[in-house]
Amino acid sequence: MSTVTDTPDLIDTTQMMEDIYKTATDIAWRFDYEFSEQKVEDLYNRAKQNQWDAMEILDWDYEVDPSKPLIGGQDSIYANMSFFKKLNKSQQEKFIAHSTAQLLSQFLHGEQGALMTAATVTHSVPDSGAKLYAATQTMDEARHVEVYAKYCKKIAMTYPMSPWLKALIDLTLQSDKYQKVMIGMNMIVEGLALGAFNNMYRTTSCPLLKGITFNVMRDESRHVSFGHAFLGPVFKTMHQDDIEECAEFAFEAVKHLLTATAGGTGASDTDPGFLMVLDNCDIDPTDFFGSIKEAQEEGQFDITPPGQIHSVKDLMMPALARVGLITDAVRPKYEEAGIPIWEDATVLNKMEDGKSDQAVLENIAAAE
Ligand SMILES: [Fe+2]
Ligand SMILES: [Fe+2]
Repeated sequence: MSTVTDTPDLIDTTQMMEDIYKTATDIAWRFDYEFSEQKVEDLYNRAKQNQWDAMEILDWDYEVDPSKPLIGGQDSIYANMSFFKKLNKSQQEKFIAHSTAQLLSQFLHGEQGALMTAATVTHSVPDSGAKLYAATQTMDEARHVEVYAKYCKKIAMTYPMSPWLKALIDLTLQSDKYQKVMIGMNMIVEGLALGAFNNMYRTTSCPLLKGITFNVMRDESRHVSFGHAFLGPVFKTMHQDDIEECAEFAFEAVKHLLTATAGGTGASDTDPGFLMVLDNCDIDPTDFFGSIKEAQEEGQFDITPPGQIHSVKDLMMPALARVGLITDAVRPKYEEAGIPIWEDATVLNKMEDGKSDQAVLENIAAAE
């Protein structure tokens, strides 16, 4: 029987090594050199003060044991599903190791997307302060690419980017307005990421991965805050037709995200990388996706384990609602698509506010 230490064939021949296309985003010069929003200036200052060097503060000599899954079986989102219960212990461990590696690979590829969107905001936003802030986010995202690339190399498992995630980020990068780039990244993708990072931080048994994720989250909490601190006031000055266009864009992006992945697990039967996970673990895709459907019908995904965060319910939808992107015109579309509108921003506010990013995380820990 195979174990998690087997070297799987992870070279996906369907994944291109590069993808180059042109976009038509604005280049906006500004000559006032002022922060238009105090909160954006605060975020810029926090970003400067909280820069960190991954090579200095993390122990990269830590030996990651590939025979041990990075998260405990009981903490896996798959733990209560029928396909998982049918597996023996070593098969369960192998599946957790591979599905976690596939998730970490999405963190890595998503961070590259975030790097490019932050750079896009830097040159297209017509506001001096927002440009400076977006430059700090660009550096943050570069660091995130660096750490996840290094970690994926260490566990020797990098899976290809999920098509649904690439489509979501491409939709964002190819949009014609900087507001949409910020909605797609700072509200939707980063809401998703912050929830996933939080859950990885809570569940991983690997101290190096815990350290990486903890420090990445400190940066990400600022990124999500920026969407609110800057776009909130911008929407107050925009014509209703333009707000509706942005609200429609947000709806399409959320709908894409929720329909492409099963119950928000990130698993998709049209994702060659995820199918590769199942193949490497000798799990029948029909059995697996049948189990997911069953779990969805039983409401397993509606329950968030203690300390964990539901990305859509706790972060993404409240962030959209808070800046006024759930308009009367778009609200029925969510209802028709069966997407509940969660507006309670309690968790979101906790993730963002505080004097330092460290304090934000300590507040969350204390609240548990
Ligand atoms: Fe990031
Ligand atoms: Fe980010």
